[in-house]
Amino acid sequence: MSEQRDGTRRSAAWFGAEGRNGMIHRSWMRNQGLGPEVFDGRPVIGIASSWSELTPCNAHLRDVADYVKRGVWQAGGLPLEFPVMSLGETLMRPTTMLFRNLMAMEVEETIRANPLDGVVLLSGCDKTTPAMLMGAASVDLPALMVTGGPMLNGKFQGRDIGSGTDVWRLSEEVRAGRMDAADLAEAEGCMSRSRGHCMTMGTASTMACVAEALGMQLSGSAAIPAVDARRYALAQAAGRRAVALVEEDLRPSKVLTRDAFENAIRANAALGGSTNAVVHLLALAGRVGVPLSLAEFDALTTEVPVLVDLMPSGRFLMEDFYYAGGLPVVLRELDGMGLLHREAVTVGGRDMATETDGARCWNREVIRTAGEPFRPAGEGTVVLRGSLAPDGAVLKVSAASPELLKHRGQALVYDRVEDYIADADDPELPVTASTVIVVRNAGPRGYPGFPEVGNVPVPKVLLEAGVNDVLRISDARMSGTGYGSCVLHVAPEAAVGGPLALVRTGDWIEIDVAARRLDLDVDREELAARAREPRPAPVDAPPTRGWAKLYVEHVTQANEGADLDFLVGGSGDAVPRHSH
Ligand code: FES
Ligand code: MG
Repeated sequence: MSEQRDGTRRSAAWFGAEGRNGMIHRSWMRNQGLGPEVFDGRPVIGIASSWSELTPCNAHLRDVADYVKRGVWQAGGLPLEFPVMSLGETLMRPTTMLFRNLMAMEVEETIRANPLDGVVLLSGCDKTTPAMLMGAASVDLPALMVTGGPMLNGKFQGRDIGSGTDVWRLSEEVRAGRMDAADLAEAEGCMSRSRGHCMTMGTASTMACVAEALGMQLSGSAAIPAVDARRYALAQAAGRRAVALVEEDLRPSKVLTRDAFENAIRANAALGGSTNAVVHLLALAGRVGVPLSLAEFDALTTEVPVLVDLMPSGRFLMEDFYYAGGLPVVLRELDGMGLLHREAVTVGGRDMATETDGARCWNREVIRTAGEPFRPAGEGTVVLRGSLAPDGAVLKVSAASPELLKHRGQALVYDRVEDYIADADDPELPVTASTVIVVRNAGPRGYPGFPEVGNVPVPKVLLEAGVNDVLRISDARMSGTGYGSCVLHVAPEAAVGGPLALVRTGDWIEIDVAARRLDLDVDREELAARAREPRPAPVDAPPTRGWAKLYVEHVTQANEGADLDFLVGGSGDAVPRHSH
């Protein structure tokens, strides 16, 4: 309850108290120059910031927070900014995904433990957005999100280059001998030339759009570049709206409905968005008790074409997307196909129909129409199933090679991704264009942490022979900026004894994307015999202490969202017992 039984706000349990406790709660706050009038019962709005210089994509969020604060003051609230854990994709090892649930816990517990009536969530880099949403959903105080916005387009040697996508692309060019190291070094300074998160349709841009499609951030905001003045005006508007959300008692549980998830899943398909959105949406649905299964992602998107021509699937970048009209245009196209839940509630206080009806497109090269899409329906992320992935696996069709979508090839198996990387440039590597590279023990439990190593490099011998793609299968994830014919999130993962653990080099593997199949062509008796053999010791010793130990003991599989089992659901916003 953001309102107490006596009708006062949640924050009044602290700031409205009399005597000793009230003095403790107010007196120390006044050392920040706050006068007594701010404790008059006005809505207290927390601003959860994942600012960090170790998360370059979020390094400007303190500036964004200043504008949110202006908005909160304008609307008569009291803004209080606080830091939460930050997760920087480019630096954190072994993977930010190991820490998504930890950050979500920190967001949840910090909100609940403090005198807040509502919260604004500042995120940007990939995992910071789902972690914020998951944590806030489990408290269920009125909340809205402001993402930090994408970087400006990269500019290199007269053309646009995209975050991540061109790291993969240009480094493969160097490996293939088509580009020299000096040019690669020059590209380094040309790619990330403003504040903001990756400006491809990678995971950060995808999750920003997903948050908007869910109704958790103000309409039209996901795509505004980080350095565009309109992002700062938007941040002020979000601050004002946060105060109104408290007054309207509009909580995440009212926004994050089944309809909202369906809107977000379809939006992701139309964007050609990141495969990672699947895992994050499953986890978020678990937090709010919305039933959602991996198989439904496929069922919900069979009619959804890819409308957006953005890297890694296409040509353009987020700046172009924003100038073309951004997500509201995409949602309007979906609406025209009857694929948008128009009544879904948004934090803007209006329904999705009102937010998107007036959207106009200014560049049909960047955002296509439903009638003339960028890629036909079913070419976003699809869900595969079969004897190699009984609980499912995903593949981003728009980022894969058409000739590998129906394929039969022999496996080349690696238990550790590092061993494959060490071999990838070996001129003697026994591979052909039809080889299927299998990398395992890279799932949630196995690595541990479910890293983005699924788009392992194409063997150098193949690159030199002009073969730029090869089928890769793993229980890992892939960067949202990545591309290639990569089957990801195979569940159950090898480390928990999924069939992926039984594959041997030379086995035949068959993929048929149209039929949504992924099969290991080894007969049942042989597989049963392999399963009876003593399991080899884990390739890496399991963690014995700390967060990693808690994580491996409780993490769920990819098809369940890789949340911790005891974090599913929420604990609400009841005011905890006194601290003194
Ligand atoms: Fe932070 Fe891509 S590395 S968004
Ligand atoms: Mg990433």
